[in-house]
Amino acid sequence: MAVEYLRISLTDRCNLNCIYCTPMEKSGFLKHEDLLRHEEIARAAAAFVRAGVKKIRLTGGEPLLKKNVVELVRLIKAIPGLEELALTTNGLLLAGLAEGLRSAGLDRVNISVDTLKEETFKKITGSPGFPKVWNGIQTALAANYTKVKLNVVIMKGINDLEIPDFAKLSVDYPLDVRFIELYNTNNRSYKLSGTLFTTEETKKRIAETMGALAEVPAGRGDGPARLYTLLGAKGRIGFISGRSDYFCGTCDRVRLDCAGKVYPCLFSPATHDLRELLRSGAPDAALDDYLKKVFLVKSNYKKDSPSAGHIEMSSIGG
Ligand code: GTP
Ligand code: 5AD
Repeated sequence: MAVEYLRISLTDRCNLNCIYCTPMEKSGFLKHEDLLRHEEIARAAAAFVRAGVKKIRLTGGEPLLKKNVVELVRLIKAIPGLEELALTTNGLLLAGLAEGLRSAGLDRVNISVDTLKEETFKKITGSPGFPKVWNGIQTALAANYTKVKLNVVIMKGINDLEIPDFAKLSVDYPLDVRFIELYNTNNRSYKLSGTLFTTEETKKRIAETMGALAEVPAGRGDGPARLYTLLGAKGRIGFISGRSDYFCGTCDRVRLDCAGKVYPCLFSPATHDLRELLRSGAPDAALDDYLKKVFLVKSNYKKDSPSAGHIEMSSIGG
């Protein structure tokens, strides 16, 4: 697969502390000077676009914690040849930013939200805040994005009873509601292994409570999700089945973290470091040569299982 999709983690900080994500023994955040600055991120992004990337997604930590994120979106969106700019957020700060981000050129937004109940929200994230997230979702829906998606990680005994409520959101609103299987990637998610709720089980629950799911053919921008609709729905339902049906064969993405490291795969260690090159005064041609090497490593990267070693989703951005 050609690499056309770059995920950039803007910060390793997050304003939530989710039970399956934030590391148990966080050894502190990266130092300010170790993080890529706006101009460095935009310059790296432009080099990736020259190398063939068409779509960029901004992630975190929580990307909306990045200072002046609206300005950064404007800088990245101005890159010639970039077709789509998207962002994945936990939604807490979205209500205040959704319109500004849209005006600055953000095309799409994915919101991670695992419950619709404040009590469960506190249990999963360690903080209050569901009303703010809901407000963020509504503001995003009103802000004329080309698509708004919800990401819902289902965990047995924690939020699986809410599957019909989430499915109903896809009926009532033009949202893609995507149910995600929990990955075991760090000490916290290993502890939750017993809560894995497979796509098969989620589909069954939806069929029993909400009726039949009709499959929708995969289109551009649908990412790793398989999509369906319920009768009369305004939106769609998706399944990201990283545990039961991994999708390495169709992977078209690379990742850049907030310190400038490049990862050919979500489950691989970083293989390259762009920061020194960016700070050495190297010309664009040197960046382009370097990315050729990165893309070669990606194209030769063979992964036949998603259950690799220890990965902190909070720093690589999922
Ligand atoms: P779209 O472009 O809207 O489809 O976004 P996306 O699904 O690529 O990104 P998002 O940040 O919303 O991630 C949704 C889920 O997919 C998260 O749980 C990610 O960890 C997972 N995911 C994203 N990319 C990969 C990947 O390359 N491999 C695997 N196994 N999972 C991934
Ligand atoms: N398993 C599945 N999804 C995860 N995410 C973070 N950690 C995990 C995990 N262990 C998801 C978040 C967010 C996306 C970027 O990654 O819920 O939607």
